[in-house]
Formats: sequence, structure tokens, C-alpha cells
Amino acid sequence: MAEYVVEFGKDGRPLEPDGRLDAPAFHRNHQAISAVLQQFLAGKSGDVVEAGSGTGQHVVEFARHSPEIIWWPSDLNEQHLKSIKAWQAHAGLPNIRTPLRIDLSDPAWCPEMHDGSGPGQLLAVFCANVIHIAPWRVAEGLFAGAGRTLRADGRLFLYGPFKRGGKHTAVSNAVFDSSLREGNAEWGVRDVDDLKKLGHGVGLVLKEIVEMPANNLILVFERSKMA
Ligand SMILES: C[S@@+](CC[C@H](N)C(=O)[O-])C[C@H]1O[C@@H](n2cnc3c(N)ncnc32)[C@H](O)[C@@H]1O
Repeated sequence: MAEYVVEFGKDGRPLEPDGRLDAPAFHRNHQAISAVLQQFLAGKSGDVVEAGSGTGQHVVEFARHSPEIIWWPSDLNEQHLKSIKAWQAHAGLPNIRTPLRIDLSDPAWCPEMHDGSGPGQLLAVFCANVIHIAPWRVAEGLFAGAGRTLRADGRLFLYGPFKRGGKHTAVSNAVFDSSLREGNAEWGVRDVDDLKKLGHGVGLVLKEIVEMPANNLILVFERSKMA
């Protein structure tokens, strides 16, 4: 069984000599995602973790637009961690930290989240295109960590394709979902209602659903006022 649908750098595209990888989708989606994040981050400061950063291109763009925010990229794939470091070095921005090796299927995330060498309580967690390309326990671990580490005013941003009320929002998403499940029965496009339930279990409520280009959504979770 394939471990990742997207293991960047395995498609024959040339790597940069320093290990920087390129994700074609990044060029199509980063401006729209950045605009949504900026609505929340503008004027604020604090730590933000990107979960499953992939190549590292998103975190560089986000860091460029929000110099007051300390960005902590992460992934568990060694090649991707190398690419993130290379993009970090290439950008030369002071507000991107060395990527954390976070396996989201572990609710504890990584030692640095607990030993004082990583970020403090988080202003935000951002995660794009990960939870449908991974077993459900990865979504559980993502929410567990976000519920534990987000500040009182913190938010979890989830970008990708999602089902709503058990239904796909586009034929292309349904086709994609089938191809994911054929590759690995544990993967698949997730339903917003199931994610709301996960959030409920860790004190997070769905605040907003932002419609994005190409039938993607951004789900924005915040701390429940009841928690
Ligand atoms: C489709 S890529 C998305 C990368 C990037 N967020 C983007 O949108 O371009 C999925 C990413 O999730 C990472 N990933 C898969 N399983 C993971 C896990 N259990 N914990 C953390 N990251 C994981 C992969 O290594 C890969 O970088």
C-alpha cells in the first residue's frame, strides 16, 4: 500500500540541489489560503504550527505576509523535512523555525511540544491536504493536539476537499475520494460533520466554513465557550 498519495519529489521533476521540492498545487492555492489566514492573523502575534507542511512552500509565503507570527512547519517524511529546511534557508526569514518532526497519528505530536524547546500555546494550527491522505487516527491526533495547545483565542484551520452532510460537493471530489480509497481503504475525503464531532471531543467548535477555489474548503475551528 502506498504510504502517501503525494510524496513530493517522486514524480520525476528535478529537485533543487539543496533539496527544495515543488508542489504544483501550491502555485494555484497559496494566495487564496493566505488571504483567509491573514484575516485572522493580521495585527496578532504568537506561534503557529503548520501540520503536514509537505514541501515547505506554504509556510514561507505565510511567514512573508505575517512577520509578527512565529511559524513552526512540521511533517513526518524525511524528504519533506529536508525540503522545508531548504525553503526556510532559501527564504532567509527570521520568523520560520526549524521544522518539527510531528507524526499526527500520535496525539502528543512531538517532544518539543512538551519540553519547552518548541512553541508555546498556539495562536493557530494550519493543516492543508493531510487528513484525507491518511488514516482517520491522523485527524484524531491533529484535533487532540490542537485542542491541547491552542490558546483561548486560538484557531484550527483545515484546508482541503470535504464532504458536507455525507455528500461530496463536486464530482471531481467524489472521483478523487474513490481513487484515494482504492489506494488505501483507510484514506478518504472526510465529512465536515465527523470533524465537528472530533472537535466537540476536544473543546473545539466549527466557527466558519470558507468556500475556496477548486471545490476546496477551509474549516475554521475555535475554542468552545463552554469548554
Ligand atoms: C498532500 S501532502 C500536503 C502537503 C502540504 N500541506 C500542501 O498542501 O502542499 C500531505 C502531507 O502530509 C504528510 N503526512 C502524512 N501523514 C502524516 C502524519 N501521520 N503526520 C504528519 N504528516 C503526515 C505527508 O508527509 C505530506 O507532506
